[in-house]
Amino acid sequence: MRGRNEPLGAELVSRDAWKGRDVISILDFSRRELESLFAAASEFVGPPKPRKDLADYIVATAFFEPSTRTRLSFTTAALRLGAKVIDLSPDVSSILKGESLHDTTMMLEGYSDLIVMRHPSEGAALLAAELASVPVVNGGDGSQHHPTQAMLDLFTVKRLKGKIDGLTYTVLGDNRYARSATSFLYGLTKFKPKMVYIVSPETLRPRDEVIKQLKGLGLRFEQRAELEQVIGNTDVLYLTRIQKERFPDPNEYEKVKGSYKLTKEVLAKGRSGMIVLHPLPRSTELPYEIDSEKSSAYMTQAHLGVPLRMALLLKVIGGGRS
Ligand code: NCD
Repeated sequence: MRGRNEPLGAELVSRDAWKGRDVISILDFSRRELESLFAAASEFVGPPKPRKDLADYIVATAFFEPSTRTRLSFTTAALRLGAKVIDLSPDVSSILKGESLHDTTMMLEGYSDLIVMRHPSEGAALLAAELASVPVVNGGDGSQHHPTQAMLDLFTVKRLKGKIDGLTYTVLGDNRYARSATSFLYGLTKFKPKMVYIVSPETLRPRDEVIKQLKGLGLRFEQRAELEQVIGNTDVLYLTRIQKERFPDPNEYEKVKGSYKLTKEVLAKGRSGMIVLHPLPRSTELPYEIDSEKSSAYMTQAHLGVPLRMALLLKVIGGGRS
């Protein structure tokens, strides 16, 4: 255990196996490791104090897809720990000249101590991790994984509800293409939810391989068609936008767009103390009028991305170059 005067980094590195690790899927992490991450992240919630833990390090962000929260909260987290950040902007890099993911990764490993990568192709971060000698953190790969989003989502539940176990979760929306929803479900398999309801329009139900995983991992879940069937039992409502950009056929998107939307009337049927999470950005499913509802927790959730990612960077890069 860390003594009061010991640097935070020393304790974080020694207690579990985070140091030097790639972060590709939340499935790769144990409950114990996640709990230790949340405990570390709790220390960074609140007014920031200047820190120099990572002053000797450079973090690279490489986002091949749009991002506000993931890219900027990683950047803020790195800067708050004293690290420097370099950003590969695909639109002004040699990627425009046809440079491959292989060569880009080989450059980034030479210029930085950790790479945060988002890419439209599933498996891109894993490929980069296999190539790079520095840790790679997956900031989202296609529809597949978004591990740090799921970590911050669970961290938000822990902070706002005091626990993750024993609660009833409803995951509403695009459960087919939203990697945040899939990763959240994967994250829940590490804990003991009372029940998980997966609510999606017919064509946006989770992919077969995801269902198979969830069943294999013993998650208690049921699929439902309507939020109203389950909202009265829900403690945590996790909502996602329809991932328009991932539909192979634009006509399929047209058929399903606007098919679900959170309203004040529906929320009023919810259990007291229920919280509403959303990874953002939002579309029509989450009207601005919901923001003033007591249950709305998505802005807090987005802000908790900074302490969570501070803890993660500190754990993965480590407090020293040992
Ligand atoms: C999500 C993403 O990129 O997967 N955003 C995020 O990282 N907070 C959700 C989305 O784009 O809908």
